[in-house]
Amino acid sequence: MKIHLQDSYSEVESLVLPVAQSAREQILAHWAATTGLPAELLVQDFKAEHKEIAVLYPREGSFPARRLILLGVGERPSPEKLRQALRALVHQQKSRFSGSLGIDFLSASRPAENSDVISGYIQAACEGALLGQYDLGRWKTAHSKKEHTAPGPAEMVWFVPREWKPAGKEALERAQALAAAQMRVLDLVNAPPNHLTAEMLGRAAQEAGKSAGFSVTVLSKKEIEAAGMGGLLAVNRGSALPPAFIIMEYQPAEKAAQKYPKIGLVGKGVTFDSGGISLKTIPTLHYLKSDMAGGAAVIGVLEAAARLQLAVQLIGVVPATENMPDGAALRPGDVITTYAGITVEVEDTDAEGRLILADGLAYLKRNFNPDAIIDLATLTGAATISLGNAAAALFTQNEELAARLSLAGEKTGERVWRLPLWDDYNKSIESAIADVKNYGGPPAGAITAAKFLEKFLEGHPAWAHLDIASVAFTDSEFSAGKSSTGFGVRLLIDYLIGLTVRDGV
Ligand code: BES
Ligand code: ZN
Ligand code: ZN
Repeated sequence: MKIHLQDSYSEVESLVLPVAQSAREQILAHWAATTGLPAELLVQDFKAEHKEIAVLYPREGSFPARRLILLGVGERPSPEKLRQALRALVHQQKSRFSGSLGIDFLSASRPAENSDVISGYIQAACEGALLGQYDLGRWKTAHSKKEHTAPGPAEMVWFVPREWKPAGKEALERAQALAAAQMRVLDLVNAPPNHLTAEMLGRAAQEAGKSAGFSVTVLSKKEIEAAGMGGLLAVNRGSALPPAFIIMEYQPAEKAAQKYPKIGLVGKGVTFDSGGISLKTIPTLHYLKSDMAGGAAVIGVLEAAARLQLAVQLIGVVPATENMPDGAALRPGDVITTYAGITVEVEDTDAEGRLILADGLAYLKRNFNPDAIIDLATLTGAATISLGNAAAALFTQNEELAARLSLAGEKTGERVWRLPLWDDYNKSIESAIADVKNYGGPPAGAITAAKFLEKFLEGHPAWAHLDIASVAFTDSEFSAGKSSTGFGVRLLIDYLIGLTVRDGV
């Protein structure tokens, strides 16, 4: 799709007017006067509630658009509200759009905002409009299977005041990179488990690397065995399909005398989690195809960072496998030796994420020693019990990392909320026969999982763990049943951009 930026109106098929409640009467009066539509009725009928939509048809010739679409952004507009409103609008109305879609930031009342604020709004709005075209129905026979977007507007024209143009241009570029990366994540997480095995996840990473510009190595089962990744191999034992260990590296173009921060990311890549021998008994087992959402997010972050040419070094690691029961499967009671050499008594084979992450984290730490390490994993149902769908659980002992990730979460709408890593919680994962056990009992399940991971960081001073089980795959207006949210890409890209502006991790 073509995306333009203009500082004066031109003819478009549909023009979207974002309307905040505070400016509602003024904006409606203005457009009533311009189009000849009845002002009192507009004010009576359109309250500018968040996501409220009114489609108006001005008399031909009276107005440079055949459709005028009022879009409510509610009482307190924020980039997040704008993103949601545009996504909902395009999602609901895309069958109407075929020509050009204009988005109007020209007539909005505009306080003297700084360019960061402005670009935040435009970026969010554009991301929403692009994501609104996302189409879940890839496996319907009527679907071409090539495109993950439904037919929608042929082009988008963003009308902004002249002084917003430089910030606006950058914002639209960011939005396109982020939307492309997020749509890849949506595709991966929504993919059925027979269409996305560990090896296929590896190939998807390679494709992303090729198209965005980062390097990808996928270790095969033999190489994983040779490296001694006992956690990943243990989880893989019950599966008929081989595991994969994905390593991605993004290096910014060399600029003399610049030291780039090196950030390491690890994502859980369980392509289907049956629980293994500790088989899950839930009726929604099919949703566990989303247990690689952390891994997909890491691929998405590498992709977006490379497309945006961010001035940071990134290493992404995704241990990938299914968790299945069969005669060869890992048993409750088995003791395994992980890549780090730490032995684990497996008490519950459904606590498999931490076993593969243990290898991913230790591998990253030992081979790359990044300045900061962040992992994303759909790790525990307990995270959902603590926080519901409103935030991911954040664990870190590093105050600066906590502050930066929390801020990025507020800005991007991908919120995180911190839970403690007190050593009190070590008690419940002590094993009588091995270094540690993989199950700490029902109390504080998200925390004991994080304490388990911590043991594989070998005291790294800047590690954060994000338990995204509650936010990665949710009910939404965009699908019947649960679907991927793409959680993590916006959050971490905002965090990484922050590093390029201010020192530290
Ligand atoms: N992948 C699950 C957590 C999960 C459950 C994510 C449902 C999304 C939706 C994880 O591997 C798991 O099974 N966790 C167990 C941990 C327990 C055995 C310690 C859980 O949360 O019940
Ligand atoms: Zn599990
Ligand atoms: Zn799992």
